[in-house]
Amino acid sequence: MTDERTYLVSGGRGAHQEGAPVNPPVDFTSTYRYRPGAENRWDYAREGVPSWAPLEELLAHLEAGTRQGHRGHGFVTTAEEHPVAVLPGLLFSSGMAAISAVTHLLPPGGHLILPRHSYMGFSSLAQQMADRGLLTLHRVDIAETEAVKTTIADVATLAQAQDSPVMLWVESPTNPMLEVADLPALLAEAKRRGLITVVDNTFATPLRQQPLKHGADVVVHSVTKFLAGHSDLIMGAAITADEELHRRLHEHRTLHGAIPGPMEVFLALRGVRTLAVRLDAAESNAGELARRFAALLGTGETQLRGVRYPGLDTHPQHSRAAAQLGGFGAILTIELPDGDTADAVLENLSLWTPATSLGGVESLAERRRRHATEPDTVPDGLIRLSVGIEHVDDLYADLLHALRLVASENRDENG
Ligand SMILES: Cc1ncc(COP(=O)(O)O)c(C=O)c1O
Repeated sequence: MTDERTYLVSGGRGAHQEGAPVNPPVDFTSTYRYRPGAENRWDYAREGVPSWAPLEELLAHLEAGTRQGHRGHGFVTTAEEHPVAVLPGLLFSSGMAAISAVTHLLPPGGHLILPRHSYMGFSSLAQQMADRGLLTLHRVDIAETEAVKTTIADVATLAQAQDSPVMLWVESPTNPMLEVADLPALLAEAKRRGLITVVDNTFATPLRQQPLKHGADVVVHSVTKFLAGHSDLIMGAAITADEELHRRLHEHRTLHGAIPGPMEVFLALRGVRTLAVRLDAAESNAGELARRFAALLGTGETQLRGVRYPGLDTHPQHSRAAAQLGGFGAILTIELPDGDTADAVLENLSLWTPATSLGGVESLAERRRRHATEPDTVPDGLIRLSVGIEHVDDLYADLLHALRLVASENRDENG
């Protein structure tokens, strides 16, 4: 077994042959020559290409908590060490393409239980599917374990009577409210009741949380975010240890055609090599910023109303996060009294970039309610901060400057 930090660097590099390239080659081709009558491994590129394999292998092992030895090529059976079997991950053209494929595992008439604050793109897709009568939606507060368990039991009973399947969708921490679900408890309950379970692991990354180990059937990722890490591509992935689900997801990808381009796969693999160091640096910055902003609350120096970060002991699920996550992540939120004040703060930033998305090396800030589809349970003045790897003092100084400026302008106006 190799440590995961080593595996991120050494995995998916191919055989140890003299003259082999250090990095796996990338195929810019839409098709492969075949030999009539032979078993041809590669055919039309929509079905799969060899240059997806290193990243698909790497993501699967990271999520399953298994690693191939750094001398190996292909998969090493680690059944004795670990209960999770490993099948290659499946790359998609975006996180939403992966999510859409997974959602389509539910046949028409199925039930979907999802967090009320799940990523708004998925929330909108699920709502559209519900409006078209394709599924029945049950929104829950994913942090409220007992209430979610009750919903699981109620929906499972209802669905059994209708002979229709149920999918539990967990996002944890949630986007953007950073609620932390009791993953082991919810997945165990869902399994007991025969639900299909899916975890969007984009925020935590497999370095901080490995839902397959807790019995999740499928893990999905927006590779766009921390995994690729440089805000320069869009990609998704679905990972499962279940052969039938894998077959169906692969088939869906081939038939619907949401495949990644060769250049994106090259860049994502290059990005993932540095995931551990990037995440450590960004997480350390996020923790420090959360503490410094929290110390400003109530001082009157700024108009800050709240700071949310799973690493703060004021976070409602702080102890759960501490027990469950390998780290508290690189996302935090700050809250201002209203949308206008938050927008004014964003306009006065110079180092932070006001932009949507997260997980890159550069720090981004966004007022989430600027999107009409973000639910109104997300405060209007809430700014989501995706903390990058710049020096923490510079990040703090830039934001503090904007917060102070806006506070003093508003004081002048009001008084
Ligand atoms: C938690 C989460 N899941 C999925 C997605 C969708 O991924 P993509 O933008 O790569 O389609 C996002 C995008 O913001 C996200 O934050």
